Amino acid sequence: MAKTVHGFSKFTKLEKVNWLVSAFFNDDVKVKQILMQYWNSNPLLQDLHDDFIENTISNYYLPYGIAPNFVINGKEYAIPMTIEESSVVAAASLVAKFWSTRGGFKAEVISTTKIGQIHFMYEGDEVELQNYVASKKEDFFRVTEDITKNMCKRGGGILNIELRNKTSELKNYYQLHVTFETVDSMGANFINSCLEAIASEFKKEEIQIVMCILSNYVPDCLVRAEVSCKVDDLYAENSEELAQKFIQAIQIANAEPHRAVTHNKGIMNGVDAVVMATGNDFRAIEAGAHAYASRSGKYKSLTNATIEDGIFKFWIEIPLALGTVGGLTSLHPLSKLSLKLLGNPSAKELMEIIAVAGLAQNFAALRALTTTGIQKGHMKMHLTNIIKQLGASEEEKSFLINYFENKTVTHNAVVEAYNKLVENK
Ligand code: MEV
Repeated sequence: MAKTVHGFSKFTKLEKVNWLVSAFFNDDVKVKQILMQYWNSNPLLQDLHDDFIENTISNYYLPYGIAPNFVINGKEYAIPMTIEESSVVAAASLVAKFWSTRGGFKAEVISTTKIGQIHFMYEGDEVELQNYVASKKEDFFRVTEDITKNMCKRGGGILNIELRNKTSELKNYYQLHVTFETVDSMGANFINSCLEAIASEFKKEEIQIVMCILSNYVPDCLVRAEVSCKVDDLYAENSEELAQKFIQAIQIANAEPHRAVTHNKGIMNGVDAVVMATGNDFRAIEAGAHAYASRSGKYKSLTNATIEDGIFKFWIEIPLALGTVGGLTSLHPLSKLSLKLLGNPSAKELMEIIAVAGLAQNFAALRALTTTGIQKGHMKMHLTNIIKQLGASEEEKSFLINYFENKTVTHNAVVEAYNKLVENK
């Protein structure tokens, strides 16, 4: 059977599944069963999910977990996390509890400006272009009025439209750099619609518009989250040493991009999990965060730490363009539930919560890495996963967990121990 198809998007869902199973899986009924066992029994709920994207054939589950005991700016939260990595929710929960007895997390939004750009080529006289843009500014605002009306009522809208000369970077390249306040919505559609409306009014000989699009680099949509405590309260064993190691770990990340990428990846474990659980765009968040980590020209840590006057301080600064209204946040039942669980936060409050989730994750990683090593915790989760795959009973499970308390966990070693256990029964 041919592996190319025409009119696929017009097929019913079942026709799509049948075609796929036939073209790529040799009509294996098991494949069809796997795909269909994830269909929701509630057809309305399934339709809702089907319509999020084109050509949906099934649902792809990810665990939805809760990290309780977060205290942020004096308020208690149970944070929803959607993630497949086994240690992330456990780490968040531990760290939340730890800091809840040390004053909790403090977080504040520094800025909320978002950016969109109209990229164009222009070979003519620059002063003439400047005069043209200045003469058209009012029109640019006027043609977007229908789009911005509601946003303006909520306190947002277009903040500024600025002509930027980029010809030193690329011959004839200019842009209209537009800044926005989108309040509680992430604002991607709003920004792109405004840009396209402005572009329709931006017509002059020699101006050749290449494209209009928001930027996911949002260094002025920035949030800071922090924890601090007396150095002596940091760790039961050797607090001073741990505090110093945190500082060294961050210095190493700042000196060595290979480490910084992993360091920041750990932060994004926490960030993305909450971004996903609240129906936000994790690709946008990822791209923006890593660009911000490179803002000095070198890729560095998103977190920082100091010891001053016996106080250990640990903080993160991260750009987060988030929404709590619109898009998936208002469509996906679990995103809506996540937001409700968080007390229906504004986008600003969600920025604070998510920055905290990232900081907590980095705290957990650095504490483990600089003390016991990361594998101890990871392998515990790995062990339970393998045990589960083996279909072990509760009794066998507790035997294996005990057995591997002081042994190295590998897939083979667990299978071997399990087989022996079953044989000896
Ligand atoms: C694993 O997902 C994340 C860590 O590698 C982060 C780090 O090394 O800081 C543990």
